[in-house]
Amino acid sequence: PLDEEEYERPRLGSAGPVRVRVPAKINLHLHVGPVRPDGYHELVTVYHAVSLYDELSARRGDRLTLTMEGEGAGELTLDDDNLVLRAARALARYTRRQPLARLHLRKQIPVAAGLAGGSADAAAALVACDALWGTNLGRDELAVVARDIGSDVPFLVLGGTALGTGRGEQVSPVLASGHSWHWVVAVAGVGLSTPTVYRELDHLRGDGAAPASVGAPDTLLAALRQRDPAVLAAALGNDLQDAALSLRPELHRTLDAGHDAGALAGIVSGSGPTCVFLATDARHAEALAKELVDSGSCRSAQPVHGPVAGARVV
Ligand code: C5P
Repeated sequence: PLDEEEYERPRLGSAGPVRVRVPAKINLHLHVGPVRPDGYHELVTVYHAVSLYDELSARRGDRLTLTMEGEGAGELTLDDDNLVLRAARALARYTRRQPLARLHLRKQIPVAAGLAGGSADAAAALVACDALWGTNLGRDELAVVARDIGSDVPFLVLGGTALGTGRGEQVSPVLASGHSWHWVVAVAGVGLSTPTVYRELDHLRGDGAAPASVGAPDTLLAALRQRDPAVLAAALGNDLQDAALSLRPELHRTLDAGHDAGALAGIVSGSGPTCVFLATDARHAEALAKELVDSGSCRSAQPVHGPVAGARVV
């Protein structure tokens, strides 16, 4: 928290509008440990930000309001539970000011898809309001405010490729090799609720029906330092995959279609139902995306690359 002197000092914010672009995330490695007393699972994950973006604009206003267009419009509630509004309020509380802003969200990241779209929007709101209000918290301090909003929010403030621990909210950057990886993001028609997928994993484990955990991320981290997509392909892993497949058996078809189309690897992204496929290069990703769409095994498929920056003013 800020001391009184900091609090009193008038600061100049932006006249607005401030526009912030924020990426989706995939998990290259997701180890799910036991349930903690607080109901969350202990995670060791490698987050990777990819070039599929939402955009949030913030203007001065005499109230806090949110409007939206694109993916999930009409389906997402714009009430107090909305992660964007919760993020704006959390930053206002933290910096001891009134949460006054007119926010508009343009969504491309599908909702309930395992791509952390809602967390991305919360990260965008933190960065946008920080600029609009002139509160000028650094990225690290914004990541601290982000922790209480959702487990993936600190990563989306940071972006790139990062190791996530705790419930996912403790993030540290993974040394970048400067290499860009090419992926196809295949989105399903209907979303999956994250808590439901975690519960399904607990059930599978309780029944002894879950496969061995992916364990420590060492192999994946070593693979990232090489520039060979075939090596990375062999190292991808996600403990939530079998739970997502158990709830949505039709995802087997999507994974098979990617495999048949020549993807180097395919995994469920986070809690799903989005599947991500690794390609050798940008052209391969284009071709894969077309074949996946033609297969009819997903709602849409698009080529993306990563790592990309986290929430940034544009
Ligand atoms: O942190 P966040 O609100 O995004 O998490 C959504 C839900 O996902 C949690 O309520 C919990 O059910 C599940 N979760 C979990 N363990 C984690 C992260 C999320 O069980 N580490």
